[in-house]
Amino acid sequence: MAKSGRLIVFEGGEGSGKTTQIQRVQAWLEQQAQQAEGDFPRWVATREPGGTEMSQQIRQLLLGYDGAEPLQARTELLLYAADRAQHVECLLQPQLASGALILCDRYTDSTIAYQSYGRGLDRSLIDQINQIATNGLASDLTFWLDVPVEVGLARTQKRGAADRIEQATLSFHQRVYQGFAELAQQYPQRIVRIDASRSEVEVTQQLEAVLIGKLREWFIGE
Ligand code: TMP
Repeated sequence: MAKSGRLIVFEGGEGSGKTTQIQRVQAWLEQQAQQAEGDFPRWVATREPGGTEMSQQIRQLLLGYDGAEPLQARTELLLYAADRAQHVECLLQPQLASGALILCDRYTDSTIAYQSYGRGLDRSLIDQINQIATNGLASDLTFWLDVPVEVGLARTQKRGAADRIEQATLSFHQRVYQGFAELAQQYPQRIVRIDASRSEVEVTQQLEAVLIGKLREWFIGE
């Protein structure tokens, strides 16, 4: 199936505000669509892990597991990959084929940051598994919501009970941060850094400034 929609991914460490910003961007898209009077793409918000019915169960396993037997790093990697394969086949590809703009909370860069930089798994192994899971589907634009690790973790603590990954050590989260920072340097064409330590409104404004140009390029110029 040919792709006519676009995939936008929101990445970042714990408490970087991705979920809130995806909601705010949708409200902004709503306004833009009203102003465009019909000539505007349909959009869909989704997330990893947990973007499909089946993936919800994988998310439960990944974030809620607290058995005595430790979850191994490679098992964790494969579960994230299984979640992604299902998401790509059942939601991302069909939606893109039908022309939707997708706002996705996390994608392949999270696996590189968390499972490679964080857990220490070999990068080429992660790249191969990402390739299998995505079937080659890459994001068109990725926002990295950059917030200092301590600030992000303090935000998550205010939200209440921490999940299995939020409970990992500070040095784990610092390695994850390093991962996102290096990815942003490595792929400047695809990854746009957003200063997510600013207020919610200011973060949304930074996102909108990039999105205005991209929407014009992708949908209005066609
Ligand atoms: P969140 O989407 O609510 O932030 O939770 C997802 C958690 O899963 C978060 O701690 C990051 C982690 N994660 C990985 O470790 N690898 C991955 O590939 C993905 C998509 C998420």
